[in-house]
Amino acid sequence: MRNLILCGFMGCGKSTVGRLLAEQMGRPFLDMDTYIEQQAGRTIPEIFAQCGEADFRRREREACKALAAQESLVIATGGGALTFPENVRALAASGDIVLLDVSPETVLHRLEGDTGRPLLARDDKESAVHELYAARLPLYRRAATVTVDGEQPPEQVAQDILTALAQAAQTGVYL
Ligand code: S3P
Repeated sequence: MRNLILCGFMGCGKSTVGRLLAEQMGRPFLDMDTYIEQQAGRTIPEIFAQCGEADFRRREREACKALAAQESLVIATGGGALTFPENVRALAASGDIVLLDVSPETVLHRLEGDTGRPLLARDDKESAVHELYAARLPLYRRAATVTVDGEQPPEQVAQDILTALAQAAQTGVYL
C-alpha cells in the first residue's frame, strides 16, 4: 500500500495527526525528525548547532529516500523536507502527500515557548515565521495532492484527511 505523507509548516500538527491516523488505519507511524535523530545519535538542535543546517538537510534527504523505499507508512515529514524538489519527487512516488494548512498566527501561538526548532531560535521569531511561511507555502501547495484545514482539533483533521483521500480516490480529483 502507498505511504501517507503529511507535510506543512512547523507546528501544523503533522506528528500529532500522523500518530492518530496511523492508529486509526492500523499502519506504522514514522516521524521523520525522530528517524533522523536516531540515525544521527543526536537531537535536531544538536545537529544544527554542531554540524550546521546543510548537514541536517543532507540527513533529511537520506531520510526521504529511505522512507520512500518503504510502504504502508504514515510519515510526518519535517517542515523543511518538502520544500526541496528532490525530496518531493522521492516521497511523491511512494504515496499521497497531504498538506496541513495553518496560519502563521496559529504557528506562533502553538510554538510559543518552544525551544526545539533551531530555525525559530531567534529574537525576532515572529518575522522568522512570517518570512519562512511566505516562502514555503507555495512549495507545500505544489508538493501536496490533498490539502486539509489544520486549524481544527487533531481528531477532526485526521477525519478530514481520510474523507479527502477517499473522495480523491473515487473521483480522481485531488485538491
Ligand atoms: C524544520 C522543521 C522541523 C525540523 C527542523 C527543520 C524546518 O520539523 O525538521 O527543525 O525547516 O521547517 P517540524 O516541522 O516537525 O517542527
